[in-house]
This record gives sequence, structure tokens and C-alpha cells, in this order.
Amino acid sequence: MDLLIKNGTIVTETESFKGDLAVKDGKIVCIGSNLSFQATEVVDAQGMLVLPGAIDVHTHLAMPFGGTVSADGYLSGTRAAACGGVTTVFDYPMQRKGMGILETVKSRMDLCAPEACVDYAFHCIITDLNEGRILEEFKEAVDFGITSFKCFLVYKKEGMMVDDGTLVKILLAAKEAGAITNIHAENPDLIDMNIEKFLKEGKTSAWYHYMSRPEYVEAEADKRAIHWAKAFEAPLYIVHMADKEGLEAAIEAKRAGYPIHIETCPQYLEFTCGVYRREDGRNFVCSPPIKNSESREALWEAVQNGMIDTVATDHCPFQSYEKDWGKDDFTKIPNGCAGVENLYPYMLSAATMGKITYNRAVELCASNPARIFGCEKKGSLTVGKDADIVLYDPNKEIKVTVSNMHSDYDHTIWEGHTMHGYPIATYVRGNLVFQDGKFVGTPGSGKFIARAPHSK
Ligand code: URP
Ligand code: ZN
Ligand code: ZN
Repeated sequence: MDLLIKNGTIVTETESFKGDLAVKDGKIVCIGSNLSFQATEVVDAQGMLVLPGAIDVHTHLAMPFGGTVSADGYLSGTRAAACGGVTTVFDYPMQRKGMGILETVKSRMDLCAPEACVDYAFHCIITDLNEGRILEEFKEAVDFGITSFKCFLVYKKEGMMVDDGTLVKILLAAKEAGAITNIHAENPDLIDMNIEKFLKEGKTSAWYHYMSRPEYVEAEADKRAIHWAKAFEAPLYIVHMADKEGLEAAIEAKRAGYPIHIETCPQYLEFTCGVYRREDGRNFVCSPPIKNSESREALWEAVQNGMIDTVATDHCPFQSYEKDWGKDDFTKIPNGCAGVENLYPYMLSAATMGKITYNRAVELCASNPARIFGCEKKGSLTVGKDADIVLYDPNKEIKVTVSNMHSDYDHTIWEGHTMHGYPIATYVRGNLVFQDGKFVGTPGSGKFIARAPHSK
């Protein structure tokens, strides 16, 4: 054996039990008690939880956006991921007008491959149908392992939005090809109307980012997308759900048996729109904005009762000087916040504090993302799966500060947040990449994950 982890508490999405876990050639080969294989490395995990690595299915690494490029590239973003117990990240390459899907994805793969410290997969953002040629390419993309496409129902002026007709064409072609459609739901016309009014009135602070995209802006677009997905019985994945009304509509559709999946992010679970009134409010500017406490409570309830499927980060940090561009005009603040290193510690900390079970944290951050997005070898501590493993000390407390994170950004919305319990080691396919607060992996060792077609 290459690695034997002994005496830990093994946590899966359904159960927790004391046991040992053996790894050979990057795979989990045996789980049991009192395993006595000879192994190159034996780790005593007494008092530790042994968890599957998290899968962050929503990151924007080196993303050109808001007049700049997001602060974490493939190296620093995946290094930070490893240090937060994330063993696979999904990035969002954006198709530019006239480009093909595989052309778009492969150009990002070329950048990612030499730098990736954990495994990686891609959703592809579709911005233009290229007179229908893109829809014809869906099958080829699925065969290549790209089994999810994303539509922005917003960012109209930025040229990224798709209209309803295009959305429906994508929903149908994705379903036909064995893919799932992800959507960012906000109504751009209402946002523009609000922005125009606030700027005219001289209301330029970060608070007006929230006020121009309040609950109803997201709810309308959520409901519209759900309506089309239901009408055409197409699978839909709503990214970064942040509002109660849209959440309720999605839950109703799920309960009626439609294949609607819901993602939320730690920032929507932790904060409320009150952050935009703070001195550092611009740092929290992301879209959709963080909503009111009613929405936050509804999101927590759905995290607890199983209605939310995944928690991912929307990791898209910008530097302070870039956030400052919007000091006197909130529309100039690049949208996005950091999170990839905080996701698993945050959800596991919630488990340590009794808000959810550790099993539910694993389900939300590892097994459901793997199942929904076709990562057949990931997301679970099961014999035959990749040995993507996190050792977690439930008694270790860490206060997040920018200097103990492993990204390239210069500030974090998680500054000062105490995590109750923390990962102490991360393995990607059996290779140690993080230990005792330090990155110990190798850039370029992460592998592209070709995914299976979407099946449900
Ligand atoms: O504010 C955000 N979320 N920035 C990244 C792009 C997106 O909308 O997901
Ligand atoms: Zn988005
Ligand atoms: Zn995003």
C-alpha cells in the first residue's frame, strides 16, 4: 500500500464510523477496521475525521471581468483550494462571440494544466450561439467531458447575457446531449432601471449595489428559468441562489419532481445585506448581492432540510485597489469575492457547532457536486474512488486572516472569522498537498476531469 490512514472517524454522506482506509496508486482500495497492510506511509488519525475532499463547482480563476482579471489564477486558486480541503475545482471558461466550446475550454486547459495543484473540470459559459453551430457542438463537448453549460441571464451590457429564446435552445440542446444547464439568474433591465435612478440621485455607495439588485431582481429571473426548465422538462442548476422567493420556487419545482438543482454559497449563509453599509462594503460586492436576513434564514433551512443540493463558492476575488475603483460609483466595483479556501472549513465548522451534521456537509460539498456533475471517481470515501481525502481536526480553531490564506488576493471578506475545527491535511489521488497550515503540493500535478453525461 502507498498510504494507510488508521483509527480515524470515516465520514461519508450517509454514515460515520471508526475505521482505517488504505490507498494504492491514487485509489481507495480498502476500508475496514484494524487493517494491517504494509504501507509506505502510515498516518494515525486518532481523534480526526477522515472526509472526502470537497469539490468546489463554482470558481472563476484568472477571469477577465469588471475591467480587470480576477486576482487568483490557476496556481494560486488551486493552491488555496488544496489548503481548504478542496480537491477538485470547476472553473468557468467563457465563450467569446464566434468561438467554439472546445476551442474555449482547451485554451483555458492550456493555462490551467501546468499550474493546477488540485484536479479540475470546466463548465462552459455560452454567450453566443454562432448561428446555431454551438448547439451542434454540445454532443462533442459532452464526449470530451464537458457536461454542463452556463447561461448568464444578466450582464447584458457586458455582452454575456442570453435572452429567453437562446436559453430555451440551450436547455433543449443540453438535455438532448446529456448535459445540464447552469444559470445565473438576475433581471438586467430592472437592475439598469435602478442604477440609472440611484446614480441620478447621487446614491453611489456600495449599499446601492444591493438596492439596485434586491430580492425581486433575482426572484423574477429564478422563476423565469424554472418556468422554462419545467416547460421543456430540462435539467437546470441554479448557481449562487441568494433569495428566499426564488429558492421557494425552485423547491416547489423540485418537490413536483422536476430536475432542478440548487447551489448556494457561504457568503449568502453568513452575511446579510447590512455588510454593504459598512466602511468596507465594496469588498462584499458580488452578484447577486447578499440579501436580507429572511433570505439567509430560508437558505439555512434548505441547507438543513436537504432542499439545497450544493454549496460552492463563486470564488472571484479582486484586489483592494480594484474594489476602490467604485469608491464614488458602486457600478465600477468589480463583482466577486474570495471563498475557495473557506468553503469546507465554513460548512464543517457549522457541523462542529451543531447546525448541520458532518454527513450533510460532505453531501453538500462533495458527494452531491460529484453526482450532479458526473465526477464518477470523486466525492465519496468508497473503494474504487480517487483517494481525495481530508483529515480534519474538530478541535482546532483558526481565525481567518488574509496572511494565513494561500491565495494571491490582498483582503478577504472572511477576515476575523473563527472556524471551529479545521483541515490538517489534504490528499489528491493519494498525494499530500496540504499539511499543518502549509501547501506541500506540486503545481501541475492536478488533472483534468472528463465528466460523465448528466443522468438525472
Ligand atoms: O460577483 C460575481 N459573482 N462575480 C463572478 C461572476 C458571476 O456572476 O458569477
Ligand atoms: Zn454569477
Ligand atoms: Zn460565478
